Amino acid sequence: MLKNGKYHNFNIDQFYKNYLNGPKIFKKRDALEPAYIPNELPHRDTEIKEIASKTACALRGDTPPNFLCYGMTGTGKTATIRYISQKLAQFTKKSKPWWIYINCSIVSTPYRILAHIYNTIVGQEKIPPTGLPKDVIFKKLLGLLDHKISNSICFLVLDEIDLIADKRGGNEILYDLTRLNENLDSCRTCLIGISNKLKFKDSLDPRVISSLGKEHITFSTYNAKELGDILKERAKIAFCDDILKEGVIPLCAALAAKEHGDARKALQLLRKAGEIAERTQNKMITREHVNKAQHELERDHIIDYIKGMPLQAQLVLTAIYLITIFSNDRVIVSGDIYEVHDELTNKMPGVRSLTRRRISDYINELSLAGIITAAKKSLGYYGRTKVINLDIDKKLLEGTLSHIAKIKTLLNYKPVLIQNKKVRIKNNVFRKLS
Ligand SMILES: Nc1ncnc2c1ncn2[C@@H]1O[C@H](COP(=O)(O)OP(=O)(O)O)[C@@H](O)[C@H]1O
Ligand SMILES: [Mg+2]
Repeated sequence: MLKNGKYHNFNIDQFYKNYLNGPKIFKKRDALEPAYIPNELPHRDTEIKEIASKTACALRGDTPPNFLCYGMTGTGKTATIRYISQKLAQFTKKSKPWWIYINCSIVSTPYRILAHIYNTIVGQEKIPPTGLPKDVIFKKLLGLLDHKISNSICFLVLDEIDLIADKRGGNEILYDLTRLNENLDSCRTCLIGISNKLKFKDSLDPRVISSLGKEHITFSTYNAKELGDILKERAKIAFCDDILKEGVIPLCAALAAKEHGDARKALQLLRKAGEIAERTQNKMITREHVNKAQHELERDHIIDYIKGMPLQAQLVLTAIYLITIFSNDRVIVSGDIYEVHDELTNKMPGVRSLTRRRISDYINELSLAGIITAAKKSLGYYGRTKVINLDIDKKLLEGTLSHIAKIKTLLNYKPVLIQNKKVRIKNNVFRKLS
């Protein structure tokens, strides 16, 4: 907008003024962040007790056994281990244990795990991100552990450990880490593995199972009431007094309970609901804000999911998108997707076309993710086939796909299949029914 010879799109001064004069929702916003560790962890007594008994011997200078923690995402595994580490430190008078925390989704190769442990102990980036032979770093690490940590215990926490076990050299590094103590003179290490996958043990080498997987703790999922208790405690710290309308916490808890009782999800919902209330200058958080928050989170989740899919899966989805927008009333069958996917790969040098079987796998994955619905139907004349429908907003999908460089140029392509009257099912070409 041009005003007095100047462009005015957005009045930031007014915006900040309104914000400061508006109602205050958050007292301590950080308390709803995933990294925040509360003083109490309701409904984790059994898990805390088990881990406390395994690790208590560290208070007397003995070495606790290596162990694994299993449980679905958001069952408090990471929070519980961090909580225990703080408590253990409070009760150790001298030579406090060291805790080296490694998130395998970030520190994701065997080399980088060793480098990360070494660099954390020295407090500097001494080992370069690549380059040294593994046995050299290993020797350096053993020397450092004995020299710097000497008589204390060093806990090595490998969070999301399932991500490393599947990698090349993954089992080997886990085996080496479980056997550190055999090569150390004074320092002692204890390895704690945390996994979101219950079946993760299947990908472990028997040697690793025998030194890491013999002892494990399973984290149960939370029910709606338990999630409600967790949220209540957190809300007291995070929000100003009396700003939660009745029913807000139970709704967040119920929605998260539907997703296998994920506390992270419950907290995210509550925080987002608070942010929406703040954004719209409301004095209180209502159930309506929670529903809106749920909607926004689902949308963000779908966008991230699509962006993170392999290119071939993105192409399958693009094929579905193109058929949907260019033929409003057409019934989409899996054969169409196969044809259009094939057309798309022909336009992309270096990208292979796929077998019907692979296309069908991708269709199943997209359906599981809730992006499409795929129902087996008997279409009379065509026989039994899968009928596919896009389950998310077309505009949202278009926006998401247009952010993927390789896909962007395909979005205006009108498939040849749409232009003729034929349809192909299971290698037979039929005339399209009108
Ligand atoms: N019993 C609990 N009490 C309070 N907060 C919890 C509890 N369990 C989980 N949380 C919180 O929920 C979120 C997810 O927990 P986290 O430990 O990261 O789960 P996991 O590692 O099992 O995926 C974190 O913000 C954490 O603080
Ligand atoms: Mg975790």
